[in-house]
Amino acid sequence: MHIEDKPPFDTPFEWIGGEERVKALVERFYDLMDLQPEFARLRQVHGPSLDQARQRTFWFLCGWLGGPQYYTEKFGHPRLRARHLHVPIGIQERDEWLACMDQAMGETGVPEDLRLRLQASFFQTADWMRNQGVAQ
Ligand code: HEM
Repeated sequence: MHIEDKPPFDTPFEWIGGEERVKALVERFYDLMDLQPEFARLRQVHGPSLDQARQRTFWFLCGWLGGPQYYTEKFGHPRLRARHLHVPIGIQERDEWLACMDQAMGETGVPEDLRLRLQASFFQTADWMRNQGVAQ
């Protein structure tokens, strides 16, 4: 299957395998951030506890992938860029976030074609969140 082909499911949420698989992905993402030295800068800007980011990113991704809108129901519009403005995000932080997420997608068995599509979408979102080294 190629990225040009029509996606086989109505939503990425169904394609990934539903809420349990999103949970597994997010858990692995934050575990890797904690464990791996190449994500040290990313880990550092998160402060001592990852618990809140872990919970909220799970809620957010369920909705962003086309599943239940838990995040929006609890907090309103995500305003992701605004909500990250107190976090310094430059090229290094963006790229560590993307590499960590890509490794988590690989290790939790996200289907390869979906992984390629999500890589592209995550890049767009993470790049738009850069707030260092760019005009505000
Ligand atoms: C596609 C990219 C990203 C997504 C989807 C995402 C998603 C989220 C979400 C949903 C939250 C919770 C927001 C809230 O309600 O407070 C969060 C928190 C956070 N994110 Fe991201 N994020 C992304 C990229 C990044 C990047 C590149 C960094 C780089 C350092 C980062 C650092 C953080 C930190 C430090 C928090 C915790 C903020 C706090 O609790 O004060 N994020 N992220």
